[in-house]
Amino acid sequence: QGAGPSSGSGAMSASGDIGTSGWAEPGGEASRVAVSSPIGTDAVPFHGDRQAGVDTPGQTHAVFLAFDLDEDLDRDGVRRMLRILSQDAARLTQGRATLADTEPELAAAPARLTVTFGFGRGLVDRIDPDAVPEWLGPLPRFEQIDGELSDEYSDGDLLLQICGDDQMSVAHARRMLTKGTRAFATPRWTQIGFREARGSHPTGTTMRNLFGQVDGTANPQTGSPAIERLVWGVDDGLGADLQPWIEHGTTMVIRRIRMELDTWDELDRPAKEDVIGRRLGTGAPLTGEQENDPIDFEATGPAGFPVISDTAHVRRARIGDGPEHGMLRRGYNYDGADGESGLIFVAFQTDLERQFVPVQQSLAESDHLNMWTTPVGSAVFAVPPGCAEGGFVGDVLFS
Ligand code: HEM
Repeated sequence: QGAGPSSGSGAMSASGDIGTSGWAEPGGEASRVAVSSPIGTDAVPFHGDRQAGVDTPGQTHAVFLAFDLDEDLDRDGVRRMLRILSQDAARLTQGRATLADTEPELAAAPARLTVTFGFGRGLVDRIDPDAVPEWLGPLPRFEQIDGELSDEYSDGDLLLQICGDDQMSVAHARRMLTKGTRAFATPRWTQIGFREARGSHPTGTTMRNLFGQVDGTANPQTGSPAIERLVWGVDDGLGADLQPWIEHGTTMVIRRIRMELDTWDELDRPAKEDVIGRRLGTGAPLTGEQENDPIDFEATGPAGFPVISDTAHVRRARIGDGPEHGMLRRGYNYDGADGESGLIFVAFQTDLERQFVPVQQSLAESDHLNMWTTPVGSAVFAVPPGCAEGGFVGDVLFS
């Protein structure tokens, strides 16, 4: 379950790296921190055909960092930046300090740290204008709901999604990677999100959002044929207009959506359940008993009205049963110091235009949930393939 908060699948232990190899401190002296907690030493491989942090079961903490490239940065500069960031990310995710690490001890417990790179239009254009996919850029404007979208949380040339089960290693990675960008780019926006702590619920439990809803039930399962098609474009039948360089990659949408908790709480429980079409306690559809029961959209109640209303979120979000139906939602809650709460909605899909856009359009038109949700930020990135050891994320664009 891509949204599960506490599964360690796909991860391996990094304990061999820690306490035995140590690392060079800036002063030259080897520093060793013995970490024996299996949660702390759990590490997700960085190198591979595909980047981690997409179908990796959701970690507890996430930081999304968007950057704008410096105006005078040329293709070689982009290459240097991506190489440095990839090398640093490869080390940090395996519990090893970066070469210039000023607090190497903070790298010792990666706790499933992942760093996922997203490329905005500006970055790909800087490397090779011919390689820019048509879809890469701002989403179409959804008039009914996009009135409060602001630049504060929108767009960007480079995105680093840093996820992990321990906020210490996430914060450390954020600092080290931000340092790594300094000669090349400036921060544009930052978003910080969370889910349930690892271990607080059984492995594989679907996350909840701040409305209390079980959120992520309909997601394709990690490792399933559905996720291969819907996210990785394998045997897709989706007609994805992806560039060849994006094979083993995918597309990413990040929408910051404010949630009006106070007015939501004016609804009683049955009314809240009608808005979504699922029960709050179990996440089961109103036409079923268990979370994963199929939704019966045809079912009617005693008065002849549909059990799942015409404006229920799950009905509006289900645009058909063709190959394009579905996406991987991997969002994080946010709860700002200013009292604003919401969802950092994150979706991965093979084909942005056939999977994401029509669903968002359908929701914008008449999703009942819109009364309590307001998008305030929106960004689209290409998620390039992963890289081999010695390579860097995005190297395919330079060959
Ligand atoms: C389903 C909440 C925004 C797409 C769901 C479910 C909940 C939920 C509780 C049912 C359980 C599940 O299958 O995950 C929310 C909240 C949102 C939000 C609170 C905003 C704050 C969006 C957006 C999109 C989206 C922006 C895409 C444009 C979907 C899809 C499903 C879904 C595709 C599965 C529908 C199916 O059963 O086929 N959402 N959602 N949601 N949502 Fe959302």
